[in-house]
Amino acid sequence: MKTVLVTGANGQLGMCIKEVAKSYQHIEFIYTNSSQLDITDKNLASSYFSDKNIDYCINCAAYTAVDKAEEDTENAYNINVNGVQNLAEICKENNTILIHISTDFVFDGTSKTPYKETDTPNPKSVYGETKLKGEKQIQLTTDKYFIIRTSWLYSEYGNNFMKTMLRLGEKLPKLGVVNDQQGTPTYAKDLAKIILQFIEATNLDFGIYHYSNEGETTWYGFAKEIFEQSKFTNLELNAVTSVEYKTAAQRPSYSVLNTSKIKKRVNTTIPNWKESLKIALKNYNSAKNYEKN
Ligand SMILES: NC(=O)c1ccc[n+]([C@@H]2O[C@H](COP(=O)([O-])OP(=O)(O)OC[C@H]3O[C@@H](n4cnc5c(N)ncnc54)[C@H](OP(=O)(O)O)[C@@H]3O)[C@@H](O)[C@H]2O)c1
Repeated sequence: MKTVLVTGANGQLGMCIKEVAKSYQHIEFIYTNSSQLDITDKNLASSYFSDKNIDYCINCAAYTAVDKAEEDTENAYNINVNGVQNLAEICKENNTILIHISTDFVFDGTSKTPYKETDTPNPKSVYGETKLKGEKQIQLTTDKYFIIRTSWLYSEYGNNFMKTMLRLGEKLPKLGVVNDQQGTPTYAKDLAKIILQFIEATNLDFGIYHYSNEGETTWYGFAKEIFEQSKFTNLELNAVTSVEYKTAAQRPSYSVLNTSKIKKRVNTTIPNWKESLKIALKNYNSAKNYEKN
């Protein structure tokens, strides 16, 4: 039986992996949150590996507050660079395969076509810089790694754009959303399914892979679809520019990922983002109704 350790398991991707893993009864999953396994504490993290034969470590632990990272740089580096380096070293020492999640924010957004794994990163934010450095630490430390870069993650869990829009849409009569950043929303549960397919596949090359849902839109387009599918008819939604809606961190104006490599290697098709949004909204609403009852 394969054993898989999941770090940061209480984050949104970790929660999605927990759900999807229910249909993988032939694999033993060990879930750890930040207080049980702090990736910045190498000795503590090491102790999780010493008495178990861990075949795979899925690292869902990360500093993900993109704007806060511009000021809270030390913490972002500590988690996304030093913490990831610790995991890579421990994985190497224990012959464990590391599956690490990275981001479209490693790119500067100047491309006009979807970013391939071989394109040169050039992050424009502290968050993007720390995630890229984390990737590099892995590549310098171990050969047995999969780095999966993804974009615009959302789900029924944690804090994300879909949930923020629904919350604001219920409270406000009108809303302005940025319409000059192009990317692809990705349902975290779809990503979780792909990650578990990586564990099942035996013929995959180690390295970097890009995964997002199919299609592309802007944050405004994403918001419009959320409200249309949720039948918010009275809300006034306005498109604004990044100059009008200032944020501490600069975001790429274009960060669509080319997913050809992952589709070919894992031999899978990827759902379109609008189809996945339908499923996510349904799951979110049934979770909300369940909480109410
Ligand atoms: N969200 C997006 O839009 C997006 C887009 C592209 C890529 N990604 C990448 O996808 C991955 C998953 O993101 P997500 O949305 O699931 O993030 P998330 O919901 O913020 O979850 C991150 C988890 O990491 C944990 N964590 C933080 N510091 C830790 C530490 N020192 N040791 C152990 N755990 C720690 C957090 O626990 P606490 O809450 O207890 O601190 C949290 O549960 C990340 O690598 C992220 O960079 C995300």
